[in-house]
Amino acid sequence: MKIAFFDSGMGGLSVLHHATKILPQEEFIFFADEDNVPYGTKTPEEVLGFVDAAFKFLIAQEVGAIVVACNTATSVAVKAMREKYSLPIIGMEPALKVALDTFPNKKVLVAATAITITGEKIHRLIKNLHAENFAELKALPRLVEFAERLEFNSAAVEKYLRDELAACDWKNFSSLVLGCTHFNYFKDTLKKILPPHMKILDGNAGTVNELIRRTNLKPEHAEKISSVKFFYSGRRVTDAAELLRLKKFLRRLDEMYTL
Ligand code: DGL
Repeated sequence: MKIAFFDSGMGGLSVLHHATKILPQEEFIFFADEDNVPYGTKTPEEVLGFVDAAFKFLIAQEVGAIVVACNTATSVAVKAMREKYSLPIIGMEPALKVALDTFPNKKVLVAATAITITGEKIHRLIKNLHAENFAELKALPRLVEFAERLEFNSAAVEKYLRDELAACDWKNFSSLVLGCTHFNYFKDTLKKILPPHMKILDGNAGTVNELIRRTNLKPEHAEKISSVKFFYSGRRVTDAAELLRLKKFLRRLDEMYTL
């Protein structure tokens, strides 16, 4: 099946990266809206317009399912896209439920973009999980900028994270939930900064499992490389320098995969 993965930029590659490991026989399209990244600091109306344009392009590619590998786009636009199109549309959900189920009575810090943490979707999730006293939200917008320029573990990244997380009293927390797909690139620096008891949870496996469930795909653990076509805002990526840039992101994700 031809499956599209869509993100504002390079964060969604982390979800695709996981999918290629367990669905090597499928054909993937990766659409990064590089002309408009970041989404998280824009208005919800602007983001809805970007997602709408990306979906028009992806539907024209005759894909069988679309994974919105972006928490921000999911928060703003997945409902509208599901009303408009009948194919399976899988969104991202922060792994808050997993964190609360695994570590009851402990707090969870959900890091995401500004749009995601002010959006109705995450507050509904917190309410449904009765987690008002356990979930704290934190915007880390600069991580999106760092990731887009392949700056993963510089001194500036570490300082930014140390400053932003300095106020947390970690003894009350069990875990940090990555509520933005771009944050997967920083697992090593986060591990370095957080106390050893803190777990880092992402939503990638949950999202790919949901894709499998909705499409009846068969997971396979074969050593086969899935076919992926890359697009930046609707333009096929063929330039050698751009393909090398993508390779660097994927290499980084390989390093972060088991952390
Ligand atoms: N990767 C995105 C997310 O998961 C958004 C990053 C951005 O464009 O601000 O939220």
